[in-house]
Amino acid sequence: MIPIAKPVLGRDEIEAAVAVLKSGNLTQGENVSRFERRFSSYIGTKHGIACSSGTSALQVGIEALGIGDGDEVVTTPFTFIATGNSILYNGATPVFADIDTRTFNIDPVKIESKINEKTKAVLVVHLYGQPCDMKGVKDLCEQHGLLLIEDCAQAHGAEYKGKRVGSFGDLSTFSFYATKNMVTGEGGMILTDNDAASEKARVIINQGQLGKYDHVMIGYNYRMMEMLGAIGLVQLKKLGRLNAKRDYNAHFLSKGLGKLDWLEIPYVAKGVRHAWHQFTIKVSAGFRNDFLNYLNSNGVGARVYYAKPIHLQPAYKSLGYGEGLCPSAESVSKQVLSLPVHPNLKKSELEKIVDVVEKYR
Ligand SMILES: Cc1ncc(COP(=O)(O)O)c(C=O)c1O
Repeated sequence: MIPIAKPVLGRDEIEAAVAVLKSGNLTQGENVSRFERRFSSYIGTKHGIACSSGTSALQVGIEALGIGDGDEVVTTPFTFIATGNSILYNGATPVFADIDTRTFNIDPVKIESKINEKTKAVLVVHLYGQPCDMKGVKDLCEQHGLLLIEDCAQAHGAEYKGKRVGSFGDLSTFSFYATKNMVTGEGGMILTDNDAASEKARVIINQGQLGKYDHVMIGYNYRMMEMLGAIGLVQLKKLGRLNAKRDYNAHFLSKGLGKLDWLEIPYVAKGVRHAWHQFTIKVSAGFRNDFLNYLNSNGVGARVYYAKPIHLQPAYKSLGYGEGLCPSAESVSKQVLSLPVHPNLKKSELEKIVDVVEKYR
């Protein structure tokens, strides 16, 4: 089976991890600090705060911006559940705005009607590695005095008009989970230019401690392990190469599958550099699941991200969300299917993916 994801880990990562083990300094130390400095400088922000996961980065980032009880945050329903949950963890309410069916990202036009006096922020997700319409979203946020948060869990190195995503918002977050464009296993980071939010986030992830055993607030243990900081430093050096291979793979697949009239290859918006976290095609809802089963039983590890928009998950339905809220996200979730595009793919595997897909109809 050609897997949907396979991290590129080599001798460098192993040596970096072993060096930390040999040092005996297992908790947050110089490797994590260096990783924070290098990653924030790579994306283009002043501060980086490493966290235990992309989820904790989102949760803490939202709290650090002062968003909480009674506030509303407009976001996309077509994303991983952590995006919505991070708003709920803070006592705020996720308000879902529908997506653009070509890019799969939140549609700025749909955001506007969701804004009211309770709205504090817009939380965008650069889904599958494709940057959102940042001009549209940023203009809206400026007009209405809203904070802008970017969930970049799937978009390390993606660019919008020559600028890396993660550097547009008041605050952004990344995940380094094992399937992402760069990995530490579990792990995440908060990025911001805002000094106060950065200081607050650092306190929150470290048990609310300002000084040793001086707990000024109720915080968490969301620190990153030192070994993961060391792995992250190595992965960051490789990121450009890994993304270039994803780009090559995506072009190979687009070229091979572009002639088939029964599927839609991914659309790439003008002026963006797609990070190709996923290569997501659309087919008719009538045979999507059958096609998925066919691919999986013929050695192609295709997956569906996401078969249900967040607002249709049972956990959200029990909060009062439901069918009809975001029709585009609801119909797209029945049509999408992601094919392997990860940098570990061999030429023969790319050829096999095209060949197996072609033979379906
Ligand atoms: C869009 C999005 N947001 C947030 C997360 C959460 O990241 P993590 O799994 O590191 O907690 C993910 C990861 O799967 C994601 O894809």
